[in-house]
Amino acid sequence: MVVRVETKDDLAVVTIDNPPVNAASQAVRAGLLAAIAETEANTSAKAVILCAEGRTFTAGADVREFDKSPMEPHLPDVIQAIEDTIKPWVAALHGSVLGGGLEIALGCSHRVALRSTRFGLPEVTLGLIPGAGGTVRLPRLIDPLEALNMVTSGKPISATTALNLGLIDDIADGDLMACASALARSAANARPRTALRHRNAKPVMDPTAWEAAKTGIITKARGAHAPAAAARAVQAALDLPADQALIQERETFLTLKSDPQSAALRYIFFAERSASKLSELKDMEPHPLTSIGVIGGGTMGAGIAAACLLAGLPVTLAERDEAARAAGQDRITAILDNSRKRGLIDQDKQEALTAALSTTTTFEALTETDLIIEAVFEDMELKAQVFQELDKHIRRDAILASNTSYLNISAVAAQTRHPERVIGLHFFSPAHIMKLVEVIIPDNAASSVVATGFALSRKLGKIAVPAGVCDGFIGNRIMSAYRRECEYMVEDGALPWDVDQAMRDFGFPMGVFEMQDLAGLDIRWAKRKSQAATRDPAQRYVHIADKLCEAGRFGRKTGQGWYDYAGGKTTPSQWVENLVLAESARKKIARTPISDAEIVQRILSTMQAEAQALLTEGIARRPGDIDVVMVNGYGFPRWCGGPMFLKNHPSVD
Ligand code: COA
Ligand code: NAD
Repeated sequence: MVVRVETKDDLAVVTIDNPPVNAASQAVRAGLLAAIAETEANTSAKAVILCAEGRTFTAGADVREFDKSPMEPHLPDVIQAIEDTIKPWVAALHGSVLGGGLEIALGCSHRVALRSTRFGLPEVTLGLIPGAGGTVRLPRLIDPLEALNMVTSGKPISATTALNLGLIDDIADGDLMACASALARSAANARPRTALRHRNAKPVMDPTAWEAAKTGIITKARGAHAPAAAARAVQAALDLPADQALIQERETFLTLKSDPQSAALRYIFFAERSASKLSELKDMEPHPLTSIGVIGGGTMGAGIAAACLLAGLPVTLAERDEAARAAGQDRITAILDNSRKRGLIDQDKQEALTAALSTTTTFEALTETDLIIEAVFEDMELKAQVFQELDKHIRRDAILASNTSYLNISAVAAQTRHPERVIGLHFFSPAHIMKLVEVIIPDNAASSVVATGFALSRKLGKIAVPAGVCDGFIGNRIMSAYRRECEYMVEDGALPWDVDQAMRDFGFPMGVFEMQDLAGLDIRWAKRKSQAATRDPAQRYVHIADKLCEAGRFGRKTGQGWYDYAGGKTTPSQWVENLVLAESARKKIARTPISDAEIVQRILSTMQAEAQALLTEGIARRPGDIDVVMVNGYGFPRWCGGPMFLKNHPSVD
């Protein structure tokens, strides 16, 4: 039984039990309707508590049903039936109260939650809007601007925020059911509450902020359809009587459900979850992880250390000398400070996390550490030396991971006595924020070690994707290929800002040349110089980036790169344009204009060809893994699903 009803003294308790996340599947919806009939008829129950078994209250509609025709009873009807009951319904909430789960809770007359509960309407992240009254009932309960933010961003809020907004009646710090029972009994003895559907929307307090928020949503959406539709739905909820707004909301929901963008977003949702499920690791126990070592406290090391601390893992950071140790510690402190300022942790928590960090200039302090992540400069000799040295100090069963962006992990592993315990964990910058980790698996890595890499990633809240050893793994190898193609286009007839504009119009947050300016051009220049002797002379080589560096144009940090940055403004550079034209002329290339559509097509084809090569070589296992990497690490528009999805579904735009 996915929904069961019990009578407990003078109350009825309706429990949803549909693991793993109590999704509101057809069986759950039917079960709830039956429960409504049963509890209304139950003369000994004066109120009803709605709760859920397992790790969470309902996490929303069953996304797997979205590819099928809608099946009765529909969620809006079930929620309306809850709302129309004579008896009060108290939602007792825990875990993630998301999407349809929150809409069900809004149909109840009262809501109480554990302090750890999170509330959200994440439908926009699946290319949808709430389709069971979320956009209509929420602004009838809380400030419309807050409702607009929740509906259009999809971001969850905490129970404390929910209480402050008036979304819930109470927080249960101890026994949720005891708290819900007390609320249910007092509700049964009080005057019935007016259902949200029969209330007026709350007034907009600041019309200027309201209009600005709506405009901001459309700009930020960069071509995604759902956020603008969600904003329009909330506006309609304010402008129309609830019953009309509900009909309109449902129509929009059903239209968006068949929008190719929603299919792409649903695909990537499931691809992210299956990326870390490797058949060979099915029954593999990961090593226990109680402490983490990080070598190098620069940009990446500090971010990785902070991510581990924030996930509750004590960290020992090792740096090369006292000055670098202090600088590394400062970087981590700055990240934790920022987390506190953003409300993610409080002062006490920050102090506890700071106490869980120790810093050192010797590897001896790592003798008891379970897993060590190396993040020193991208230099093979240095990494080899670090691994040889670590090998002398660490436990026999400790795991070693490198955060290298491009280097051969098997060669790094060969520096140790137990290469089977070495893997790559390729984090993205900033490592405490970016969700993606590529787990690089050398051929002879032990399965339990690989399983531990995935277990750590999960503990850090990351999306982990397996990749084999090659220059740049999945993401950086594809990026190198399309960056090269963009440079060809610049020599063939486009200008850097044409390429960037076309990429932004397609949905990337930034074009490839702006991105290089942001990262700095000097590191890749050094890499190209070191590869110059071994480069295939027959391969086309564009010299423009080298010439920018020779002129001291290293990007934003020097005020000039592909663009000029005088006065903090990004402006196309006449100097660069002259250089581009001169280089095309020097190579006797007759420049011809390249349309935006052709620019995007050439970028996509290059990505897809490189991705296909990665699959053929076995570096990437599944097309979905490649899409997960490009969407989460490289700004590929999520609503297009990724380059491989787009290859098979060209109608997404
Ligand atoms: N419908 C169907 N399946 C769902 C689901 C949903 N709404 N939400 C989660 N699942 C499945 C996942 O695919 C996964 O299945 P698998 O084990 O076969 O891979 C399983 O439930 C567990 O989900 P996972 O995300 O791995 O667990 P978690 O504990 O990390 O996160 C949630 C739990 C609820 C926070 C997260 O799954 C989530 O955000 N779900 C989506 C909620 C949503 O968008 N709801 C609105 C739908 S319109
Ligand atoms: P960084 O220059 O910011 O930091 C490197 C740190 O390593 C410095 O603090 C340095 O003092 C320390 N270090 C050098 N030698 C050491 C030694 N022998 N022992 C201990 N510490 C030592 O570099 P970064 O950007 O953090 O990159 C680190 C690694 O992460 C590189 O392999 C890089 O390719 C990779 N990476 C970088 C990014 C990025 O965006 N920056 C993204 C993914 C991966």
